[in-house]
Parts: sequence; C-alpha cells; structure tokens
Amino acid sequence: MELKMMVGHAAAELVKDGNVVGLGTGSTTRFFIEKLAQRVKEENMEILGVPTSYQSLLLAKNQGIPITTLEENDIDIAVDGADEVDGNLNLIKGGGAAHTLEKIVDSAADRFVVVVDDSKIVEYLGKFPVPLEVIPEACRTVSNRVKDYGGLPSLRMAKMKDGPVITDNGNFVIDVHFERIENPADLEKELNNIPGVVENGIFAGLVDQVMVATSKGIKILRK
Ligand code: 5RP
Repeated sequence: MELKMMVGHAAAELVKDGNVVGLGTGSTTRFFIEKLAQRVKEENMEILGVPTSYQSLLLAKNQGIPITTLEENDIDIAVDGADEVDGNLNLIKGGGAAHTLEKIVDSAADRFVVVVDDSKIVEYLGKFPVPLEVIPEACRTVSNRVKDYGGLPSLRMAKMKDGPVITDNGNFVIDVHFERIENPADLEKELNNIPGVVENGIFAGLVDQVMVATSKGIKILRK
C-alpha cells in the first residue's frame, strides 16, 4: 500500500492547471485521484476529470473533482494502473473489469502514464490472465475460440453477488490464462477479432511513461 500511495501521489504532480485528466481505476489510482483532488483545492487548479469506471467517477465526484466526458473534451493526460508491465511497456489491465473504458480513455489521451509498484514488472506478459469483456450470449463460443490461441478460459465470478461479475457495461468477463505472451500486439488484435469480445485487457504500444514505485524510490520507464 505504501508503494502504491507513493507512486499515485507522485503522478498527481504531473497534472497542470487547465488539464483534462483521464482518471484510471484501481487501488493505485485511488491515491492519484485523492492527491489530485487535494491539489485542486489547495492550489485552486481548474481541471476536469474523465473517469474510466463507476469507481473513479464516484471517487472523483466525492473528492470534488469536476467531471467531463470524451464527447465534450480531449484529454491531456491519463493516469492509470496496470496488472502487468513487460519490458516493452506493453500492459495487461482489467483486474478491476474496467479495461474497456480504460482503453478508450487512456488511448485518447495526449500522454498516457501508468502507475505501478515493482511487483507488476515482468519480462513477458502472461502470469496474470488476460481479461476479455464479453457479451453474455457469446460466453461459450468465446471460451471455445480462445483455446485455438492456447488460452485457458475462466468466467470471472463475483464476490458479494451470486453468479458472474457484470461489468459497468453490463457484460461478462472471461479471464484467459496464457503460458507466455510472446507477441502482445498480435494477440490483442486476434482476441478482439473473436465475435462477442467487446475488448481485451492487453494494451500494446499505448504507454508513454511508466512510473514504478520501488523501495528505493520511483523509477521512470519510457518508450
Ligand atoms: C482495472 C485495472 C487496474 O488499473 C489494475 O487492475 C491495477 O489495479 P491496482 O492498482 O488496484 O493494482 O486495470 O480494470
């Protein structure tokens, strides 16, 4: 938690007065949003937030960050977490089932910054499963198709609700385990090509900068 707070707070310093900011989802970006809200109050900053989930929408509103949408504004900077980051700064996201809107918002930003602790850094993606947001009617057919790519599918079940996780968009999530992902850009395209897949959690080639919290401080990784 210490490391997540350190990097979330550091990323809040990247935001400039007047910016439109993509607000990522998860426990690391929670610290980013809280620190950003504090800066807005203390420094009288005028910013607008574009949430990537109901979680970040509710948190930002609760903290007093004014909200806008992609319909109304372009995004200067987006800050988001990740579940894995490989040596070429490709990501797996979607541990919080928010990867569809996260990809829309993060890819629309002029600058996309990722905040992680060093436990998320890997040589190759694949220890963490790739989440697929799936139209419920396609659950069985998508699960069968991912096996053609060497994936092992598993429907994500809810914790405080009976049955599957339902995303902010009303869909299911299928987590797909792969041995080791050698070519994330190709797999990202192939998975999105399966009928019924709304979006998958591979973010290949999107990131401008990764801020990694370590016990010795923050390391910056750039493309
Ligand atoms: C949500 C995400 C999160 O950004 C990712 O799961 C990282 O979360 P955390 O900061 O809690 O470790 O992709 O869909």
